[in-house]
Amino acid sequence: MNVLCAIAAESVEARDGVANKTSSRPSCSTMAFATAVGVGAPVRSSLVPTRHHELTRSRPLGGRVAPTAAAAVRMDAGATSSGAPATPKPVGIGIIGCGRIGQVHAKAISSTLGAKLVAVADPFEKFGRSVAAEFSTTWVADWKELVANPDVDGVVIGSPTPFHAEQIIACAEAGKAIFCEKPISNDLATIDSCLEVVERTGVKLLVGFQRRFDSNFQKVKSVVASGAIGDVRTFTITSRDPSPPPADYLAKSGGIFLDMASHDFDMARFVCGAEIESVYVTGAAIESAAQEAGDLDTVVTVLKMSNGAFGTIENSRRCGFGYDQRIEVFGGKGSVVGGNKSADTVTVSTEAGIGAGLPYDFFMDRYAAAYTGIMGAFVTMVAQDGEVPVGGADGRAPIVAAKAAQLSVKEGRLVRLDEVDLVKAAAGVA
Ligand SMILES: NC(=O)c1ccc[n+]([C@@H]2O[C@H](COP(=O)([O-])OP(=O)(O)OC[C@H]3O[C@@H](n4cnc5c(N)ncnc54)[C@H](O)[C@@H]3O)[C@@H](O)[C@H]2O)c1
Repeated sequence: MNVLCAIAAESVEARDGVANKTSSRPSCSTMAFATAVGVGAPVRSSLVPTRHHELTRSRPLGGRVAPTAAAAVRMDAGATSSGAPATPKPVGIGIIGCGRIGQVHAKAISSTLGAKLVAVADPFEKFGRSVAAEFSTTWVADWKELVANPDVDGVVIGSPTPFHAEQIIACAEAGKAIFCEKPISNDLATIDSCLEVVERTGVKLLVGFQRRFDSNFQKVKSVVASGAIGDVRTFTITSRDPSPPPADYLAKSGGIFLDMASHDFDMARFVCGAEIESVYVTGAAIESAAQEAGDLDTVVTVLKMSNGAFGTIENSRRCGFGYDQRIEVFGGKGSVVGGNKSADTVTVSTEAGIGAGLPYDFFMDRYAAAYTGIMGAFVTMVAQDGEVPVGGADGRAPIVAAKAAQLSVKEGRLVRLDEVDLVKAAAGVA
């Protein structure tokens, strides 16, 4: 057992939205994720199967890595009184919640030139101090202290979802740029309250749909946008996890549409450059984990887009050959396909057959570069006061689609998104 797991073992009760201040830290499985995001891109040995939620990583928790991302410095760095250029002031970033995703972001910030991780906030002292030490930064128990810190220009919210809204609003009122992990909230009215404050205060909010920064999906998007395949007619998104999450996670996940498919609803909007108008879902709970959680583990969603395109998303909580993340977009002049990613691209051909490595089986491996990319985009956005690459409306739309998908399952019919988007319906927005 490594040191961090030993700390975690003292108390394992504090996951998923319950900030039990008497506990020292979430479970060891969270620590496994932390361990898995150690220095350098973790490479899975094809000889040692690792699974999504298992404690199988032995790589030590890694902090700083050699800076790799593009330099991003504040535009207000100015000059010295002597007229000589001032040393650019780094963009100060604070992270709220340093669990598995908070550490992914801490690692990315540590490798981004022109960014400085000013502090991390987490209610669990031993754990928070350990993470802070790994990343050579300061730990604070109270996230409000981090938000009030004048050296913090931008705040990364990686706390459990139920805390996002309060933290977004506090950051916005304090004038801080915000990166919020998806989802902003699982409740549309709560999302709207947040977005109102963001709008009123004029701060920038970037929502953590990191798949938009995956090189495959970016290329698919740019090919579609270039017109090379003509008008988009259909698309097929395949999104399968290697194995279901633990029962306690499933029970609080919000269900397959909010927890898992929301990424795919975002991808449909991203690659098509259009809004989702309606969804129709067929699904099943094939395994006991989903049955006991009252959820589904296998679903096919048919989507109709505002530009006339239509497509399917296939989700499965289990996939025997790894983390299956693919897309095809078919147009009037051709198609574009984005495939899986593997630790290597070696193909072995013998008289017995032709074999290649399996895809990554862990989302943090598959999307390692995407997480770095989105955090680099956040730092650049803050430094240059630039465009928001994934804004509040992008954070909201997949949640509307998820609500529509839930209703489609319940009523066994096609559901238009405006049926569940009560705020827009009340405002008379089409
Ligand atoms: N974009 C993605 O692919 C992706 C992947 C994983 C998680 N997420 C999202 O990130 C968020 C966090 O998920 P996670 O898996 O890292 O969870 P986690 O449980 O591993 O980490 C959450 C951390 O927040 C801390 N915390 C608890 N209450 C807090 C509070 N009130 N203020 C500050 N910190 C608090 C916990 O101690 C813990 O360290 C969730 O919203 C989740 O949906 C997104």
